[in-house]
Amino acid sequence: MTVVTAPGGPRANARPFLYGDEITALARALESGQYGHGAETEAFERELAAYLDVPDVVAVATGTAALHLALLAAGVRPGDEVVVPSLTFCASVQAIAATGARPRFVDVDPATLCTTADHLRAALTPATRAVMPVLYGGRAIDLADVREHLAARDIAIVEDAAHAFGSVNGLRRVGATGDLTCFSFDAIKALTCGDGGAVVPRTAREAAILRRARALGIPQTRAERGAAVSYTVEGAGFRYHLSTLHAAIGRVQLARFPEMETRRRSLWITYETALREIENVTVVDLDVANTVPFTCTVLVPAPLRDEVHTRLRAAEIAVGVHYPLNHLQPAFRSWASPLPRSESLWRQILTLPFHPAMTANDVHTVAAALRRTLRLTTSTTYAEATAPDQDLDHLKAPR
Ligand SMILES: Cc1ncc(COP(=O)(O)O)c(C=O)c1O
Repeated sequence: MTVVTAPGGPRANARPFLYGDEITALARALESGQYGHGAETEAFERELAAYLDVPDVVAVATGTAALHLALLAAGVRPGDEVVVPSLTFCASVQAIAATGARPRFVDVDPATLCTTADHLRAALTPATRAVMPVLYGGRAIDLADVREHLAARDIAIVEDAAHAFGSVNGLRRVGATGDLTCFSFDAIKALTCGDGGAVVPRTAREAAILRRARALGIPQTRAERGAAVSYTVEGAGFRYHLSTLHAAIGRVQLARFPEMETRRRSLWITYETALREIENVTVVDLDVANTVPFTCTVLVPAPLRDEVHTRLRAAEIAVGVHYPLNHLQPAFRSWASPLPRSESLWRQILTLPFHPAMTANDVHTVAAALRRTLRLTTSTTYAEATAPDQDLDHLKAPR
């Protein structure tokens, strides 16, 4: 079948991408009459494990649920601290808050927008129970320098790899490096289930804890529950299973994933080439050879960013700013201390339209609009900065 998603072009910042076969798979799942956790979910788990080359994967309802359960499985409890970059989607922080733990916000490296081993090490306190590196844009993070130190202090690494399905870390895929790793399969991710997520557990015991917790704390399988007059509830639990309907979509997406890797990589390379020569634009590097890119993010001079954003939006180029800093959010402020480096970096961030149905032509349209807008914005800003304070009459339009 051919691609069925409407193109969207530069008018969409991000969009789902369907190959067509998802519709047949979804119809089959609907006809089966089994919509909850089922055989499709378990087949999807096995296929994910084979793709990542890991012993097991636990599928869940969302990426946020994956993070929440992974933290619980790592033993994070009320009063603990979890180190997390402020520059992430608020879901990372809400998952920490849901366990009763406190987020401890850290900076990111301006070259990658990811936390480094040094950032994590510097933020550890006696209360730290886990660190949550966020693989911004899909880029893997090398934690070799801090891994032993964390293990010695019994601090878990819970990777927020929501953006990074398919990317490579060293010689293995993200998820296969021995840490608790969480993926999101929501609508705009490289692999979508509509909504969905998954955790790669470190041990069989952890897998059992995750499976029980995603099913309201009930350890018995659906078949076991059906055959018996009762079941047991043996621990904290949530309704976090991945439905058959969502798993059916995900299985088609996974089978076609090599195509997605190629599309996203080539789109990012086209962007990088088109943006390279534009004055006042720095492309945030994604290590594209090892990454399935989720975004194309650029840095522009801080005094121009907001106006460039407004002008491009007005021209129907759907730029964004990923993400509003979490330590400045009203809900998280009580846990925050100032992060001036993140704050000044944030003022430069612009995320460009990036989704697999975009063509090279769309990329050139965005690059040209960005170049034009920056020139225009720079000259307006300089005119304002150099105009004499008292006498602005000469800038007024003639009547
Ligand atoms: C960095 C990050 N973490 C977590 C999530 C949460 O994933 P989900 O939307 O599947 O709950 C997202 C979603 O976009 C994300 O970008």
